[in-house]
Amino acid sequence: MVGQDSSFLRMKVDIMENIKDLEAKIIAEVNAASDLKTLDEVRVSVLGKKGSITAEMKTLGQMDAESRIEKAKELNAIKDAVESALEARKTVLENEALNDKLKTETVDVTLPVRPETQGRIHPISKIFEEVFAIFGELGFEVAEGPDIEDQFHNFNALNMPLDHPARQMQDTFYIKHDKDQAFRMDDAYVIRTQTSGIQIRTMEKKAPPIRIIAPGRTYRSDMDATHTPMFHQLEGLVIDKTTTLAHLKSCLYDFVKAYFEIDDLPVRYRPSYFPFTEPSAEMDIGCLKTATELKVGAGNDWLEILGCGMVHPNVLRAGGIDPDEYQGFAFGMGIDRIAMLKYGIPDLRTFFESDVRWLKHYGFVPLDFASMTGGLSNNGGQLR
Ligand code: DAH
Repeated sequence: MVGQDSSFLRMKVDIMENIKDLEAKIIAEVNAASDLKTLDEVRVSVLGKKGSITAEMKTLGQMDAESRIEKAKELNAIKDAVESALEARKTVLENEALNDKLKTETVDVTLPVRPETQGRIHPISKIFEEVFAIFGELGFEVAEGPDIEDQFHNFNALNMPLDHPARQMQDTFYIKHDKDQAFRMDDAYVIRTQTSGIQIRTMEKKAPPIRIIAPGRTYRSDMDATHTPMFHQLEGLVIDKTTTLAHLKSCLYDFVKAYFEIDDLPVRYRPSYFPFTEPSAEMDIGCLKTATELKVGAGNDWLEILGCGMVHPNVLRAGGIDPDEYQGFAFGMGIDRIAMLKYGIPDLRTFFESDVRWLKHYGFVPLDFASMTGGLSNNGGQLR
């Protein structure tokens, strides 16, 4: 060994022996630690500020260069060894602690299952879930608008100016702008009579192509077995350069078949009138009506289920869209009505009576989500 005299070699051997002793001592302490707290105390006593290895590290500063390099190398090696030993011991102790815990926390599998959940999803919520699943699959987005609406969005922009006779079709609730003002018909707000205003709000916000459905509460002054002052509608709007009546027909046909879960459901379109569409139609589905029951999908009777048509050019203009470039179709349906039909609920007023016995009968289990792949009224649907 050129350049290394015997005193250096002796020193080196001393360092190594001392350090090996230290390492063996520390590792023995680590392995003797019987719980995590003791293990941590060992760690602090070795690697902490006043720990034994830390103390050794501090001596490096007083050493000559050659010895310092040797000792630092050894100290780093022992530090690594101690750290791995600490980690390994920690894993062993953690596993032991977990096993002890598991031994005391037993599960009694003979206990009876939890009682069935009491809460139920209201049929209206369920129907909205179902129609979202169907139209979602067809590429529609959900749009929303306010319940308190101005007359521009609820009427004027939909080709229903103040003097338009179609305004009388709907028994509108008007609201004064300002409570201290006298009522003025021309500037009153309304609580929306239809979700159709969301067509305009969507056109104002978004350039075509548009493909939206708009759910919401609607209000009219009316009350009997099939009318309530508050009810629910679903609006639909599709606008693009080449959208035609054929698209309307196939889209709504796909919808009703999926919704009623009847593949060969008979449908027909009857000419009709709505101010915001031209031409306009109503869609009927085939059914059987007897004195005691109404069966969808069979028999020689027809049942009206929605209104639709090609969007009137005046409506496109009011929404800021050029009718020479774009065209589209729209539709609107009563959600409560299609809920009554699908789930055989005879009186609309009962929907809003908050009777828990009714809800228990007609409601749905909370975790039965409607989906096109998992089934709409899946898993048995209502609990009877
Ligand atoms: N807003 C109509 C109503 O409340 C329903 C409706 C019919 C909406 C035809 C439409 C439509 O978008 O094209 O009776």
